[in-house]
Amino acid sequence: MSLSQETIEIIKATAKPVAENAEAITERMYEILFEHYPETQLLFKDASPDQHKKLAAAVGAYAANIEKPELLGAALEKMAQSHVRAGVQPEHYPVVGVSLLTAVKEVLGEAATDEVLSAWKEAYFFLGDLLIARETALYATA
Ligand code: HEM
Repeated sequence: MSLSQETIEIIKATAKPVAENAEAITERMYEILFEHYPETQLLFKDASPDQHKKLAAAVGAYAANIEKPELLGAALEKMAQSHVRAGVQPEHYPVVGVSLLTAVKEVLGEAATDEVLSAWKEAYFFLGDLLIARETALYATA
């Protein structure tokens, strides 16, 4: 699967405001995630206080390089290894995705139109599917 041209254009146009608000978006995302899916909190028990904030930065970096995903190979590998160490499973991706999109909507306000949210949703799950595939392979060899 690849991203549609329309999605790529929207992501490129909104990468800057998302990157500029990455910290606020991620903080809000974790509040939403832990409030609605408290069981996910355990996955972060060994996380350093700032490490999980890297998620929005990673999504932002991915957005900035949306047309050159090969640049993200090393970063993807690092994320997949962290996830496997923490015990992240495929079913966690939709709950993180919904929390992230809710946070983007809240933080960006009016700029987060339906088109913008649906482009970010597509991009999140595209990246998520790459991670799930790599993590499944890592779990299988562990
Ligand atoms: C597209 C989706 C995701 C992206 C882009 C992403 C990104 C990242 C990044 C960049 C790191 C830090 C890696 C490092 O430098 O070591 C990380 C770690 C982590 N992520 Fe994700 N993540 C995603 C999905 C998820 C999901 C679904 C969960 C489950 C709740 C999750 C839980 C964690 C945990 C527990 C860590 C380790 C934190 C630590 O031990 O310090 N992530 N993720």
